[in-house]
Amino acid sequence: MLDELIALAKRRGFIYPTSSIYGGLANAYDYGPVGVELLRNIRNIWWREFIHKREDMVGIDSQIILHPRTWEASGHVSSFSDPLIEDVKTHKRYRVDHLIEVWIESQVQKGINVSLAKPLEAMSLEEMGAFIIEHRIMSPEGNALSNPKKFNLLFSTHIGAVEEEKSLAYLRGETAQGIFTNFKHVIESTRVKPPFGIGQIGKAFRNEITTGQFIFRTFEFEQAEIEYFFDADETNWETLYGSWKEAMWHFVTQVCGVSSEHLTWYRHSDAERSHYSKETNDLMYAFPFGVKELWGIAYRTTYDLQQHMKYSGVKLDYTDPVTGKTYTPHVIEPAVGLNRLFLMLLSEHYHVTPERTYLSLPQSLAPYRVAVFPLVANKPELVSKARELCNSLRNHFVTYWDDRGNIGKRYKYQDEVGTPSCVTIDFQTLEDQTVTVRDRDTMKQERVAIPQLIEYLNQ
Ligand code: GAP
Repeated sequence: MLDELIALAKRRGFIYPTSSIYGGLANAYDYGPVGVELLRNIRNIWWREFIHKREDMVGIDSQIILHPRTWEASGHVSSFSDPLIEDVKTHKRYRVDHLIEVWIESQVQKGINVSLAKPLEAMSLEEMGAFIIEHRIMSPEGNALSNPKKFNLLFSTHIGAVEEEKSLAYLRGETAQGIFTNFKHVIESTRVKPPFGIGQIGKAFRNEITTGQFIFRTFEFEQAEIEYFFDADETNWETLYGSWKEAMWHFVTQVCGVSSEHLTWYRHSDAERSHYSKETNDLMYAFPFGVKELWGIAYRTTYDLQQHMKYSGVKLDYTDPVTGKTYTPHVIEPAVGLNRLFLMLLSEHYHVTPERTYLSLPQSLAPYRVAVFPLVANKPELVSKARELCNSLRNHFVTYWDDRGNIGKRYKYQDEVGTPSCVTIDFQTLEDQTVTVRDRDTMKQERVAIPQLIEYLNQ
């Protein structure tokens, strides 16, 4: 199914492989005219649900390149790494855990059951290295493998014209740190007080080795993160954590229309948790290539604010103006990649029937809310009436105009990009000011009077 989705995404203008005229760039994708609308809708709905609809949330937009000390303080320079292994002949690098995973799958297909003493995520570099040696696992090219090593995921660059140690900078590996470094500004410039959260949407960059799972894991991706600050003496962290888990679940099932059967929670063991977290859970989605992490939620305690205080020398504590109590706020962080939500939406709403392929995207997320067609393109009176209606709908909805080919082809295109309604102007329209509205999911057609059309589409 993943191959079908990738083909649909390219054919209909959702996603193109980056730089394909130069042979492509691994782990990188561009969003086309249809995809960009879906991505914007995901971004806007996330913002509406988590920032605008809540009185305890504000947003910010920080830089991609932050002061390099930020990443030393956060632990990314020392600990943000993947376990890699090298083919000793070709010097190509692979993720050790991915090679082991593929090898286990190949054994299962041969009917041999291999059990791991602990989950792969929890295995140390040495344990994975020993496993590779014990089972004589080779590289995909059939060559011997080196010892596994840690490989830092931060993309580095240089500020200014001089490439020297002093000008070293990083593209942010997560949007979260721009929130922590602005904590004091937000407290001082707004009227928020804990418990409250700061949200941010923006690009993050990771020099990842991936296994061809389309946009699931890419170098460059868009994160939507929340850092929720609270006084751990006043607020029970487990209750708060539970309410954020519910908010994530609600977003995916109610806003994105995902079946709860395709979702599970996975709790990280002590060994799997990131260095900053006291509790981490991943909301997992059944992607076409397996059940994988969609959205993480971590209890970061006071780790980040404490680290930034230590490295910057600036006080990032909060003093309650009423009680005078000074403390370092604790933090709960729900963090998701919008591109993963995008892939989830495509996977969840993709349907193939004997007659057609269609995407049953929720109305609020669909790239186009409505498409307008004149029944035939060679009757000027139909075309001008249809154009007039299309232009007036554009004031209310993202509206698509199509007068090419026959109606069947137009429906096919709109079904495949997930447009909920198609409006056709025909000869009857000229007589009684009604149009046919065809529903994407049921394919049923209804005649609706033009003056009632906006209300009809808003239902
Ligand atoms: N601030 C915490 C943090 O960044 P993470 O689990 O590394 O935590 C959060 O990332 C979310 O970002 C993930 O759940 C996933 O949705 C998304 N994500 C992470 N790496 C990604 C990548 N290489 N490509 C696409 N999305 C990614």
